[in-house]
Amino acid sequence: MTDWLARWENNKIGWHADTVNRSLIDYLDLLEITPGDSVFVPLCGKSLDMIYLSEMGYSVIGVELSHLGVEQFFKHNNLQFNIIETDGFSIYQSERIKIYCGDYFTLNAKHLSSVSAVFDRASLIALEFDLREKYAQHLTDIIPFDARVLLLTLIYPQHQMSGPPYSVTHSEVESLFSSAFRYRQLHCFNDIDNEPKFLRSGVDYVENAAYLLHKGKE
Ligand SMILES: C[S@@+](CC[C@H](N)C(=O)[O-])C[C@H]1O[C@@H](n2cnc3c(N)ncnc32)[C@H](O)[C@@H]1O
Repeated sequence: MTDWLARWENNKIGWHADTVNRSLIDYLDLLEITPGDSVFVPLCGKSLDMIYLSEMGYSVIGVELSHLGVEQFFKHNNLQFNIIETDGFSIYQSERIKIYCGDYFTLNAKHLSSVSAVFDRASLIALEFDLREKYAQHLTDIIPFDARVLLLTLIYPQHQMSGPPYSVTHSEVESLFSSAFRYRQLHCFNDIDNEPKFLRSGVDYVENAAYLLHKGKE
């Protein structure tokens, strides 16, 4: 089991990207949101994608286990914030960004009632197999009807490298989400040349996949 808090303490946060995610920029329109709407970023870390979303006029709601990660996010981005303690979370809040510091699995639908869209980068794939099922079921339970989700995954030969990030196949995405969401794949391509960690481990390929999910299957 991954010890996320120790990773933050030891600054072993190789997943953190110094640039905004390209797929978020490319596919933002597909989320069909308008400025003022709220976007949920589960397992958010200190992702700059939250800065991008707020600069595009959206409100952002994140959840992150590590206080260190949340504090770094606000401090490194020079955002003024206050902290309140509610429902077992420390809630860090700036003008447009609210991060629940605590366990994703204890968030509930009330916390996310304003959400219109979700951005999942390195969240589902951060979790081991059993937790992924729990994560997907919980997401289904807590986001409002009609919300759209931009989901990014990786697919690689799991026996060639241990996660995280874990390989999540198309069939797993289908089995996790197809009962409650309409979904379609947006892209899937081998990106091994841009993945030094995978190259170093001798992994044959790593596919970068994106999906659009829409809660509210007819
Ligand atoms: C691989 S990182 C991805 C962070 C972010 N999505 C990004 O793209 O930079 C996964 C993050 O999830 C957090 N995390 C893991 N389990 C969690 C949980 N149950 N509740 C909230 N955050 C969690 C970890 O502390 C870590 O920061």
